[in-house]
Amino acid sequence: MSNDNADLLRILNQALSAEYGTLYLLPRHMAEIEDEEIKRQLHLIGEVELEHAEKTAQMIVSLGGEPTDDLINLRPRKDLKEILEVHLQGEREAIDIYGRALAVCGDPDICKQIEAIRREEEGHQRLIQRTLDRVTSSQA
Ligand SMILES: [Fe+2]
Ligand SMILES: [Fe+2]
Repeated sequence: MSNDNADLLRILNQALSAEYGTLYLLPRHMAEIEDEEIKRQLHLIGEVELEHAEKTAQMIVSLGGEPTDDLINLRPRKDLKEILEVHLQGEREAIDIYGRALAVCGDPDICKQIEAIRREEEGHQRLIQRTLDRVTSSQA
């Protein structure tokens, strides 16, 4: 296995852990939220994160690696603002992780998949940021 692949596999496993972390927290957080629109947003984001976990695991296997995950910092929150902040931070981390994966990616097909996932994370970041802004201004 090339060195680049080892780096990429390590980063993709971080991505997989981040996706699983989000998938673990989302249902817990949705149960705490009363706002139906925000619940729906998080549900839709969760569907996309599940696809990301599937694609990322598939990329890891196709690169000759093995999916390993290491879940940390999975304390569910109760306050709506805190919930949104946790997921906003999660999206930022995902963008960072997939960006690092892209930087060491050699295979054009894998690079394209990683780039598409990162774009979706950027969309999630914008969506959650907008919602957080709205919630913050309504609480002010
Ligand atoms: Fe994701
Ligand atoms: Fe995301």
